[in-house]
Amino acid sequence: MPDIRIYPAAIGHPARQDEGRSATGDGLVFEGISHAYVAANGSTPVLDNVSFRAGPGEVVCVVGPSGCGKSTLLNLAAGLLRPTAGRAYWKGREIHPGVNPDLGMAFQQPGLFPWMTVRRNVAVGLTTRGSSRVEANRRADEILDTVGLSGFGDAYPNQLSGGMAQRVGIARALALRPKLLLLDEPFASVDAFTRLKLQGELKTLLSLDKPTVLFVTHDVSEAILLGNEIVVMSPRPAAVRTIIPIEREDRDRAGPGYARKMTEILKHLGVETNLARD
Ligand SMILES: Nc1ncnc2c1ncn2[C@@H]1O[C@H](COP(=O)(O)OP(=O)(O)OP(=O)(O)O)[C@@H](O)[C@H]1O
Ligand SMILES: [Mg+2]
Repeated sequence: MPDIRIYPAAIGHPARQDEGRSATGDGLVFEGISHAYVAANGSTPVLDNVSFRAGPGEVVCVVGPSGCGKSTLLNLAAGLLRPTAGRAYWKGREIHPGVNPDLGMAFQQPGLFPWMTVRRNVAVGLTTRGSSRVEANRRADEILDTVGLSGFGDAYPNQLSGGMAQRVGIARALALRPKLLLLDEPFASVDAFTRLKLQGELKTLLSLDKPTVLFVTHDVSEAILLGNEIVVMSPRPAAVRTIIPIEREDRDRAGPGYARKMTEILKHLGVETNLARD
């Protein structure tokens, strides 16, 4: 079973401030994270004492109601935000705002550079990190092929559909072979058939490169297919409602384990089904 545990907020072994290190070990760790957005007209509490861990090479999926704070959690992991309370760690070091060379991230909105070709959009992160242009373009074409966009390298973002643009965003994150991969509903705009294909491709890529992955999705079946564990969040301000481990046999969509996990997760999300009865 993957090594992902809930860490209570008052964990009893606080990180040593001097070194910025956590006693909780490698991987991505959230320790008692609370977050509120503060504006002139008041404060919006979003995350409430969230603690869990994704160990090295593990895929942790996060599901929860819309607006509960899932993207906020990813932004905290990326160092784009600082939590109001608690700490987040990557490889034992507290995450601070700044560039994390291990990080690849695909946002809900792909945010492509409109003046760059698709190939350049994917390759730019690699050249920034020191790859030659030739090597970066080769890798970009390889990963564009994987996401079903071979032949679109010379197109510009405004020539793409929403689902295609989202796939370029995924390719841009994967091209870096990141050690920490943060995916925010990466297939939300992708049609159902392409989505199934991409889920399979992503699973293969993850098994090869073995990054630590935090994967936000609204699709519970996708979470069961890809995740080692599923973190179910409550409505905002979101707390961890439960963490559900996924075994290999649970991924067989025709098997009883799949229906059981599906029913269990939906129940925690407040949706009753009779999937497991037949
Ligand atoms: N920059 C911001 N300033 C103020 N409030 C924000 C900001 N970003 C998000 N929020 C609020 O925080 C809450 C959580 O937002 P977040 O985007 O993290 O939710 P989410 O779970 O990702 O939702 P969805 O499933 O719809 O993508 C929402 O109520 C949102 O309005
Ligand atoms: Mg979101």
